[in-house]
Amino acid sequence: MCGIVGYTGTTKAARILLDGLERLEYRGYDSAGICVSDGNREHPLQAWKVKGRLQALRDATGNGEQVPGFSGIGHTRWATHGEPNTENAHPHLSGGGKVAVVHNGIIENYQELRQKLEGKGYVFQSETDTETIAHLLNEYDKGDPIDAIVRTVMHLRGSFALGILFEDRPGEVYGVRRDSPLIAAVSDEGAFIASDVPAILPYTRKVTYLDNMEIVCLHKDGLTFYNMDGEPIEKEFTTVSWDVEAAEKGGYAHFMLKEIHEQPKALEDTIRPHIQDGKLVLSELGMTDDEIRGIRRIQMAACGSAWHVCMTAKYIFERLARIPVDVDLASEFRYRDPVLEEGTLLMVVSQSGETADSLAALRYGKAQGMLSLAIVNVVGSSIAREADRVFYTAAGPEIAVATTKAYSAQLAACYMLAMHFGLVRKVMAEEDYLRHITALSRLPEQIEQILQQEARMQWLAGKYANTRDAFFIGRGLDYASVLEGALKLKEISYIHAEAYAAGELKHGTISLIEKGSMVMSVATQHDLLEKEISNMVEVHARGATLLAVTYDGNYAMEDQADFTIYIPKTEDVFYPSLVVVPLQLLAYYVSLARGIDVDKPRNLAKSVTVE
Ligand code: G6P
Repeated sequence: MCGIVGYTGTTKAARILLDGLERLEYRGYDSAGICVSDGNREHPLQAWKVKGRLQALRDATGNGEQVPGFSGIGHTRWATHGEPNTENAHPHLSGGGKVAVVHNGIIENYQELRQKLEGKGYVFQSETDTETIAHLLNEYDKGDPIDAIVRTVMHLRGSFALGILFEDRPGEVYGVRRDSPLIAAVSDEGAFIASDVPAILPYTRKVTYLDNMEIVCLHKDGLTFYNMDGEPIEKEFTTVSWDVEAAEKGGYAHFMLKEIHEQPKALEDTIRPHIQDGKLVLSELGMTDDEIRGIRRIQMAACGSAWHVCMTAKYIFERLARIPVDVDLASEFRYRDPVLEEGTLLMVVSQSGETADSLAALRYGKAQGMLSLAIVNVVGSSIAREADRVFYTAAGPEIAVATTKAYSAQLAACYMLAMHFGLVRKVMAEEDYLRHITALSRLPEQIEQILQQEARMQWLAGKYANTRDAFFIGRGLDYASVLEGALKLKEISYIHAEAYAAGELKHGTISLIEKGSMVMSVATQHDLLEKEISNMVEVHARGATLLAVTYDGNYAMEDQADFTIYIPKTEDVFYPSLVVVPLQLLAYYVSLARGIDVDKPRNLAKSVTVE
C-alpha cells in the first residue's frame, strides 16, 4: 500500500527511483510518480506522474533518461482520498515547486487543514490529504528544513511516512514517519529512504528503521537523523539476512508461484532452528515457564490470511495446550470494548508487521496491561518492535499480494508455540509431544510431495476457471482451512467464493447451491469425516460440482466427489499445513487461466498500512 523511495547520490536519481518503485510494486498501487531535483533548472523540482502501472511512468520519462538530477523522491499510490488519476498521484508540490512531498498513510484532519490553508490563499490541485502536507511545509519553511518538518508534522493527525524535497536544498532528501513504515540506508552509490527493504536491496543490505517521529536527511555525505527537538540522534543499522535474489522471481512466471514452491524451505527455516535433540527450544522467545503456566486465556488478533492462521490456531492451542482462545479481526478488536481478564496473552500475527489494524490492536491490548506476543515475518517492523515477545517466522521476503509461504510459516509458529505451551503446562504427554514433533518435522517434505501434483491442479483449474460461484466447506480444523482456500481463490481470480462450516450450510447457504456451483470440500479430520460426507451428499444432490481434498487412502471420498485431491497422511492437527497447498495452486492456476495479473490483483495491497 503506497510505496516510497527517496535517493540522493552520485547516480542519476530517476532510474534508481523507478527501479526502487518497481521493487515495491507488490505493495499494491494505481498511479505512480517521481520528482527529481535539478539545480540547473530555473525551477529545480519537477514531477512526472501517471495513472496506472509504473511502465507508463517509464514510458513517459524515457525510462528515466529524460529526467536529469541526482536526488529525488518516488511514489506508487494506492488511492484513499480521491480517485486514482494523474492529479491525485504523488508527488505533490507547493509554492510552484518550493516543496515536493510523497506520502504513505492517512491524514485524518486534512479537511480542517485544507480549509485553513485555502484561507491563506493556497490553491489545491488534487483531492488528496497529502497536498495539505506540501502546503504546510511551504508555509513553515523559513530556511530551516528540520524546523519546517517538525512544525508541519505537529499539525498532522493520522499516519504518515513522508519523502520531502525542498527547492533550495539541492542534493538533500528528507524523510519522517509516524505509524507508517520508513527505512533508511546508505551505500557507495548514495543514501536512500524506502517503505520497505526490497527497494534498496540491489545497493545495500545495511538498513535502519526509523522510529515514530524521527527525521532523516539524506545528503552527499550520507545520512543524518534528528528527533522532534531538531537535535541530531544516532541510529543503529541492521543487516538484512536475505539477498536480492530472494526478492526476485528466479525463473518463475509469478512471485506467487515461486512463493508457493518456497514453502518447504520457509517451514524448514522456521522450524529447524527451534528443534534440538528432538525437542523444541523456544528460549529466544524469552517467555519463562512461569509466564506460560500463568496464561489463562489467549486473545488473538490479525487481518486477512493472518486472521485465518488465528482461526486455525484456536483449534491448535485449545487441543494441544488446553488454553481457551478468542480470535478477533484486528479491525474489530479494540472497538468492541473487550473483556480482558488478567492472565490473558495477546497474540498478534502479521507477515509485514506493519498492518495498521494489527498494530493498533497490539497497542490497545498493551495499554490494557496484556502481555503481548507477536508472530512476525519482517524483522524490525513496527509490530515486532512494539510487542513484548516476538516469534519470527523465517519465510523470507514475500512479494505476491496473496500470501502463501508466510501463511504456512505462521501456522508452523503456532504449532510450535502450542506444543511448547502444552508440554510446559503438562497437558501434553511427552509421548504425544515427541510424536507431534516428528510430524511437524515432516511437513516440508510432505509439502514437496503435494507440489508434485501441480500439473493436475493446473488441469483442474483450467476445467473450472469459468465457475461463477465457489463454496468451500469443512468441519473443525478443515473449516479454518477453507476460510483461507476461499480467500485465495476470490482475491486473485475474482470468482465469488465463500467458506462455510459444512454443518452450517443447511441454515441458509444451501439455497445458493445449484447446477454449476463449485463446492470444494476439505475432509481430513477423522472424527468429523462421516458428518462431512453427509454434507457433501446434500450439495451433490442439488447439482453442485464437488471437488474434495482428503488424505491418502481415503477413497470413500470418490463416491461423492467429482475430483479428489490426495495429500500425505499426518496427525490430524497438522492437516491445515498440507491442505492449503493444493488450494493455493488451484487459486493460482484459475487466476492464470482467467488472464489476471496474479501478483497484483485489482484493488488489493500487500501491506495495508491504513485502517
Ligand atoms: C493484506 C494481504 C494479505 C494479508 C493481510 C494481513 O490484505 O493481501 O495477504 O494476509 O494484509 O497482512 P499482514 O502483513 O499483517 O500479515
